[in-house]
Amino acid sequence: MLIHTIAEVREKVREWKRDGLTVGLVPTMGALHDGHKSLIEKSVAKCDKTVVSVFVNPIQFCPGEDLDKYPRTLDADEKLCTDAGVDIVFSPSAKEMYGEGHIMSNDFLTYVIPPYFYADKLCGKSRVGHFDGVCTVVNKLFNIVQPDFAFFGEKDRQQLIILKKMVKDLNIPVEIISCPIVREESGLALSSRNKYLSEDDKSEALVLSKILFNIQACYKNGITDVRALSETAYSYLNERHSLEYLEFRDADDLEEKTNADDNTVVFIALKIGNVRLIDNITLRNLC
Ligand code: PAJ
Repeated sequence: MLIHTIAEVREKVREWKRDGLTVGLVPTMGALHDGHKSLIEKSVAKCDKTVVSVFVNPIQFCPGEDLDKYPRTLDADEKLCTDAGVDIVFSPSAKEMYGEGHIMSNDFLTYVIPPYFYADKLCGKSRVGHFDGVCTVVNKLFNIVQPDFAFFGEKDRQQLIILKKMVKDLNIPVEIISCPIVREESGLALSSRNKYLSEDDKSEALVLSKILFNIQACYKNGITDVRALSETAYSYLNERHSLEYLEFRDADDLEEKTNADDNTVVFIALKIGNVRLIDNITLRNLC
């Protein structure tokens, strides 16, 4: 069932809760693919009722980013959700979420601001304010849907870590379930932004997973020095790749590592043309 208003979602959820049913929420920005589908399937399997939100959240885009051209495929998204057994697809307008006037700066809107230590690094360095927008909208979605469980992908690992911190720090009564990265057979992590890539760019984009898998193999062979592991990346890069970061950080608190261990996540971001892609791998996966 496709719903556009907060009031209707609330009414439905109230009925479910009255019947003692558990509710799962899968927040998305739409253009759904098999990565999103894996989260949705987990929720449908675990919860009595599942809500998928489809909302391209304007306040998490920085000036000059792809807000206007972000792919919007609501009909196909609704079908994927219905086929997967979703109970509600919640697709509000920006006006429904943020009110008249679209004055969405933090001078005019109450924001949820995650700690700088978590948000000022990795993607937060180039996307200033991005995680404020993410935490604010996810907090709003939690208040609207009041889910028992919420499902997020490890594809956006920094986002997942920050949202877990938000839930803990603000005592939000929801359990966050993290879901592994879904990749194409080639290794490329699925992303709505892959739609921006030409066939040529797509093969260039394999460099992210190749670098990460190679680091994983080196780690497995006993190399733990982060500088040595980082250096293995350079042979994969060419002039078409503009590396933004390659960093080794703790899986729980994003502390920087000089020596990799089984709780280390390797984070990478690079641009191919104008398309910015991110990926990561947990070295712990080896055990
Ligand atoms: P979006 O990019 O649409 O992603 C929605 C959810 O799907 C996120 O939790 C993301 O990590 C997960 N996801 C995307 N690609 C994946 C993949 N290949 N494998 C596994 N999970 C994957 O992330 C957002 O939207 C927004 O920031 C949002 C949380 C909805 C707030 O606006």
